[in-house]
Amino acid sequence: MIPCYVPMLPIDLDAVTDAEQRCHGFPWTRGNFADSLAAGYGAWLAREEAHMTGYAVMMRAPDEAHLLNITILPDLQRKGRGSALLRHLFDQARTWGATRMLLEVRPGNASGLALYRRHDFSEIGRRRDYYPAGAGREDAIVMARAL
Ligand SMILES: CC(C)(COP(=O)(O)OP(=O)(O)OC[C@H]1O[C@@H](n2cnc3c(N)ncnc32)[C@H](O)[C@@H]1OP(=O)(O)O)[C@@H](O)C(=O)NCCC(=O)NCCS
Repeated sequence: MIPCYVPMLPIDLDAVTDAEQRCHGFPWTRGNFADSLAAGYGAWLAREEAHMTGYAVMMRAPDEAHLLNITILPDLQRKGRGSALLRHLFDQARTWGATRMLLEVRPGNASGLALYRRHDFSEIGRRRDYYPAGAGREDAIVMARAL
């Protein structure tokens, strides 16, 4: 099935928020997605026929794109969809004129780390106590890749 990528719209927020709660231990809220749309961040749904298979949110900065969220629905993971969505984001970021993509990831997020390493991201630093965690806070690994 060939995916298509369409801009996320306010009408999608219920479905995206529902998916987010199923996919993340510390999910974004509906307000986080709404704020991202209002701020003009790039936000896309991945669709196959009429069905949402995933989504992503990316912020534009001078020369850089900052990937904030990439998610594939649980039953559909590990079949190449995350890679395909990431390649779509690389293309989008290049159309913005970005020469580098940045992101943060939890050290314990094995699937996220593996996806990013597979696509040539490398660790460029850490942000201490960046994420909420079960007991206190968790550091973020900062990764980057040239575009
Ligand atoms: C991270 C995520 C987007 C990956 O999507 P996906 O569709 O499963 O990724 P792909 O099938 O394209 O996998 C690409 C490569 O990433 C690596 N990978 C992905 N999931 C993995 C896992 N659970 N364990 C080990 N490697 C994994 C593999 O190298 C894989 O290639 P391979 O299957 O040929 O070995 C998906 O697991 C997800 O939505 N997770 C929950 C949300 C999340 O953590 N997002 C990232 C931080 S915001």
